[in-house]
Amino acid sequence: MEWMWNYVFGSILFSLMPLFWYFRSCRRSKLPPGPRGWPVIGNIFDLGSLPHRSLASMKQEYGPVVWLSLGSVKTMVILSAGAAEELFKNHDLSFVDRFSNEAMRSHDLYKCSIALGAYSPYWRTLKRICTVELFSNKRINEAVLIRQKCVDEMLSWIEKHIEKGPSGEIEVIGFVFPAIFNLIGNLTLSRSLMHPYSVTASDFYTAFSGFSECLGRPNISDLFPWLQSLDLQGLRRRTDRDLGKAINIVSGYVHERLNQRQGMEGKSTDQKDFLDVVLDFEGSGKDEPAKLSHHQITVFLLEMFVTGTETMSTATEWAMCEVLQNPNSMQKIKEELGRVVGVKKKLEDSDIDNLPYLKATIAEALRLHAPVPLTLPRKANQDTTFMGYSIPKNTQVFVNAWAIGRDEEIWEDALSFKPERFLESSIGYKGQNYEFIPFGAGRRICPGLPLVDRVLPLILGSLLHHFDWKLGENSSGEMRTDMRETMGTSARKLIPFKAVPKRAVI
Ligand code: HEM
Repeated sequence: MEWMWNYVFGSILFSLMPLFWYFRSCRRSKLPPGPRGWPVIGNIFDLGSLPHRSLASMKQEYGPVVWLSLGSVKTMVILSAGAAEELFKNHDLSFVDRFSNEAMRSHDLYKCSIALGAYSPYWRTLKRICTVELFSNKRINEAVLIRQKCVDEMLSWIEKHIEKGPSGEIEVIGFVFPAIFNLIGNLTLSRSLMHPYSVTASDFYTAFSGFSECLGRPNISDLFPWLQSLDLQGLRRRTDRDLGKAINIVSGYVHERLNQRQGMEGKSTDQKDFLDVVLDFEGSGKDEPAKLSHHQITVFLLEMFVTGTETMSTATEWAMCEVLQNPNSMQKIKEELGRVVGVKKKLEDSDIDNLPYLKATIAEALRLHAPVPLTLPRKANQDTTFMGYSIPKNTQVFVNAWAIGRDEEIWEDALSFKPERFLESSIGYKGQNYEFIPFGAGRRICPGLPLVDRVLPLILGSLLHHFDWKLGENSSGEMRTDMRETMGTSARKLIPFKAVPKRAVI
């Protein structure tokens, strides 16, 4: 009898198969196209070690919007300026939330963070505070001496290095990174925290690098949430440890400030720094928090270091590397600096607006080497029809800014370094031109952009005006010109860029 039931059941299932495949392909056909994935793991192996590069190459076969299954995470990737415009202009609100991963849950990071947090009243409060208190024109103008101090310090570190020995070759980022770190330290806490020769000894730097790396690494626990408790790569444990250390250090600065303030007469407003402002913050408690907790303040400060330092030092390293390999650009920058700044003077903030070629050079470096190649992951907060496709709620969304910046359908001679292209066009990176979005666009666009606009020209211009540079002789030709990148929180050069500085005659 049992065999008969099996037979009947099997026949029904068999006859329903075509129907099942029909419905499955109907559902699939409403999703964007993408490479066929393996059972369970989906397209994980299609990403490779540099996902922005692997994804860029999919545009030719699948078009500007690509669909992937990364384990159990459904993912949409935007690969063209047209699709980015559609996303940021017409669907920004549907994709405004962030997709948080396992590492971001460490120490409640995603709950306290502005970059990783959901689009919420809390996010709006933090965004308003940093926009007004760090990145407004007023604050940026007030901080001119701080920027100058940190850049001067960097130049003197390099000078001391030259005095020390004949070889003189330096890893450029080894000097730029601590200068930018100190800049963020001075803007937020009114203190410098780093020196190039103490970098490796610095607990903060070690912890900072440790958890930054974990946040940028692909994690099996994100792809298969049921494996989370096993933490197979140990990334959650490492994030807990390193982020915990960094939080303890910054929390110490907050405590120190609280102690200093205790019993002190009220400071006058113009003496307040960013930390004072967040400590004094009082919201209505209705559509914004009434106060920020000690942990929220600590994470907010830490986040300014994480988002600001890696990105700006990576951008400077790539720009230096490109300029040194393009003598024509180097000559034009030097001429412009000589003409505008003068051979005897050092570059100042007030010169920046008169240096169009220098600014075009920075734009061109950001186009070719977007420091955040895939903009921070967004999430569909509802089922959404996007460019005719049905995108389910909770889909993870990446915009490949790196691929768009190198798209040969948009950019003439796309892979060549030609700052001149920005002199002749009005295209900029402030989120209105979707063919060039290294800072993202829409509601989640990088709030640090106004600061970047003042800092990158000052750092790059000062390095090039103050020193004459040549490519390092000690590194092999291949190492000098190697243009591969590595992935962490930003796409740094895989082999740090080395060059020999010589004091210029100024
Ligand atoms: C060359 C330098 C920089 C680049 C290329 C860059 C790039 C980006 C990108 C691509 C995003 C994501 C945008 C999106 O999702 O659409 C972002 C977000 C963010 N950036 Fe930057 N950034 C830079 C410098 C800075 C600086 C200096 C700070 C602050 C000190 C900063 C703070 C932030 C924050 C807080 C967010 C999160 C915004 C949000 O989620 O609402 N960035 N940045």
